[in-house]
Amino acid sequence: MTVKVPPLKCQGIKTKLVEWIKDHALLDENGTWIEPFMGSGVVGFNMRPQRAVFADVNPHIINFYNAIKKGNITIGIAKEFLEKQGALLKEKGEDHYYEVRERFNQTGNPLDMLFLNRACFNGVMRFNKKGEFNVPFGHKPERFAKAYITKIANQIKYVADALSQYDWNFVSQGFKTTISSASANDFIYCDPPYIGRHVDYFNSWSEQSEQELYDALASTHAKFMLSTWHSNQYRANPAVDKYATRFTILTREHFYHVGASEKNRNPMLEAIILNYNPLPQIEFQMERQMALFEKSQKDDYVVPVLKN
Ligand SMILES: C[S@@+](CC[C@H](N)C(=O)[O-])C[C@H]1O[C@@H](n2cnc3c(N)ncnc32)[C@H](O)[C@@H]1O
Repeated sequence: MTVKVPPLKCQGIKTKLVEWIKDHALLDENGTWIEPFMGSGVVGFNMRPQRAVFADVNPHIINFYNAIKKGNITIGIAKEFLEKQGALLKEKGEDHYYEVRERFNQTGNPLDMLFLNRACFNGVMRFNKKGEFNVPFGHKPERFAKAYITKIANQIKYVADALSQYDWNFVSQGFKTTISSASANDFIYCDPPYIGRHVDYFNSWSEQSEQELYDALASTHAKFMLSTWHSNQYRANPAVDKYATRFTILTREHFYHVGASEKNRNPMLEAIILNYNPLPQIEFQMERQMALFEKSQKDDYVVPVLKN
C-alpha cells in the first residue's frame, strides 16, 4: 500500500503504522469513521471511508481542512500563496518566517499555517501557553522550490478529491464529545498524545485524561481501536496494564528518531488496543499459536510470542 501523506504534518504522525492500522480496522459499510485525535489525518485519510468525522482540539488543523472543503483553499490558491511567500522567504530569510508567524498568531490564517508547518524546524506544530505557534525557523530559505510546492499542491489535491467524493466532516472539539457521538456501527480510531511526549498547548495529556479516555471508550457501543505505546527498552506503559488488559492488545516494533541523527534511533513497541476480534488472519495466527502451544505441552516445544 502506498500511504498518501497529508499537507499538514504534526508530531506523532502515524505514517509508518497506517498499513498495520488499516489491516486491523473494522468499519461497517454503513458506519462512520470517527477520529477524535486527527492530528495530520494521515490514518483516516488513507482509510478512504465513505463517511467520517475528523476531530481535534487544535482548531488550526480543523480550519485548514474546512477551508479546503469550502473551496477557500484550492490547489491554485495554495500554489500561488506558497510561490509568493517562498519568494519572500528566499529574499528576506528568517525575518520573513517570523513575520508570517506573527501574522498567523494574530489572524489564524490557514494558509499561513501551511507555510509555517513546512518552513519551521522539523515540520512540527507546537503552540505555547497562550496558544501561539512558537516553532523556530527551519533554516532553509530556499525551501519552497517549484518541485516542493508541486508536492504540497498534490497533497492538497488528494484531500480535495476525497472531499468531493466522500462525506467527511471536520470539527474542533475535545475527545469526550467526539466519542459520545458514536453509534454502534461506527468505528472510532483514537491516537491520543503520549503522556510526557511532545507536550504543548493542544497536547497536554495527563493520567486523568488517560483514565477519562478509557472510561469513554469502555462505554461506547462502537468498535474502537486505540493507538498507544506498549513499551521501550526502559519501561512499559503503565496505562496498558491498568486499563487495557480486558481488550485485545496487538503490538509491533517501531523505530522513532530523537533529533535528526540516525544514531538516536530508538526501538519502541507500539500497541493497538481493540474492543473486537481482529481480522480472520489474526484469528488464524492465534489458532496456530494455540496449536503450537498444545504441541508444546506434549513436546516441550518453545511457543513463539505472537507479534503482529
Ligand atoms: C498523536 S497526535 C495524533 C496524530 C495522528 N494520528 C497522525 O497520525 O497524525 C494527537 C492529537 O490529539 C490532539 N489532542 C490533544 N488533546 C486532545 C483532546 N483532549 N481532545 C481532542 N484532541 C486532542 C492534538 O491536538 C493532536 O493533534
